[in-house]
Amino acid sequence: MDAFRTLLVLGLVFMFNVSGAQPEQPYKYKGDGIDEVDVPYVPTPDDVVHAMLTRANAGPGDIHYDLGSGDGRIVVSALRDFNVERAVGIDLDPARIKEANENARQAGVADRATFYEADLFEFDFHEATVLTLYLLPEINVKLRPRILNELAPGTRVVSHAFSMGEWEADVIDTVGGRNIYYWVVPAKVAGEWQWAMNGTEYRATIAQNFQRLSGDMIASGAQVPLQYGVVRGDMVSFETRARDTNGQTQTMLFEGTVNGNTMNGVVIIDGKSTDVTARRTN
Ligand SMILES: C[S@@+](CC[C@H](N)C(=O)[O-])C[C@H]1O[C@@H](n2cnc3c(N)ncnc32)[C@H](O)[C@@H]1O
Repeated sequence: MDAFRTLLVLGLVFMFNVSGAQPEQPYKYKGDGIDEVDVPYVPTPDDVVHAMLTRANAGPGDIHYDLGSGDGRIVVSALRDFNVERAVGIDLDPARIKEANENARQAGVADRATFYEADLFEFDFHEATVLTLYLLPEINVKLRPRILNELAPGTRVVSHAFSMGEWEADVIDTVGGRNIYYWVVPAKVAGEWQWAMNGTEYRATIAQNFQRLSGDMIASGAQVPLQYGVVRGDMVSFETRARDTNGQTQTMLFEGTVNGNTMNGVVIIDGKSTDVTARRTN
């Protein structure tokens, strides 16, 4: 069990009393330059830092944020090893901010690194295109609505060691025995969509559960369920199976890119692809 997990387990023991009731105040940890932080300081090993930024495909043009940035190692690596445009670290502990600034200076990336002594729950990080986290499961879950609602669809999120509750990771890597969770922020695609193809009107009702889509489609009066529905960033895909006029089962694959209330894409039937534009009507 590594040091962080030990601290985590101890924290959980403190959080729940013998009867299992949850205290009103979340558990706080001692910082080095501040009395209370929400997560103890434990650095991410370098190979895990590298794997996180590789999984996120961090690179030129990206704006990277590390929430709870510690000694700044992920910010420094994003700038020095992955050449992101800018990187921002946020930490509540002034001792960590001092270290992080010194590490960025020594790595020669201080001109593109900014460290803020601030509470990550109050900081505006909406401009991030790559977001890294090494926090705690309950902190990830608390951040989840902000990640889903404030970050642009397509933003890549990577968490060392901890998942994000019901929002399943798109990919989980294991490096040196540690899990790395990866998500792409999904666009919001729930609602009623309509399109026309070869003279037929199609209507799909899409329900969304994070990156998973379900619902049904109506064409020529017949209703069929949507299958394998996924939204990854702004890219949407689903399949339907319906009987054609000859009674044969036909698979229809929809692949499109959503932009607000419009989805441009293709419908593929029997290997034949037709361009379609779907519009959200509700
Ligand atoms: C587990 S460490 C991760 C450090 C770094 N991201 C890494 O992976 O090496 C968590 C960091 O979060 C900081 N922290 C804890 N609560 C915070 C809060 N509410 N706002 C900002 N930073 C916080 C701690 O001071 C600590 O440096």
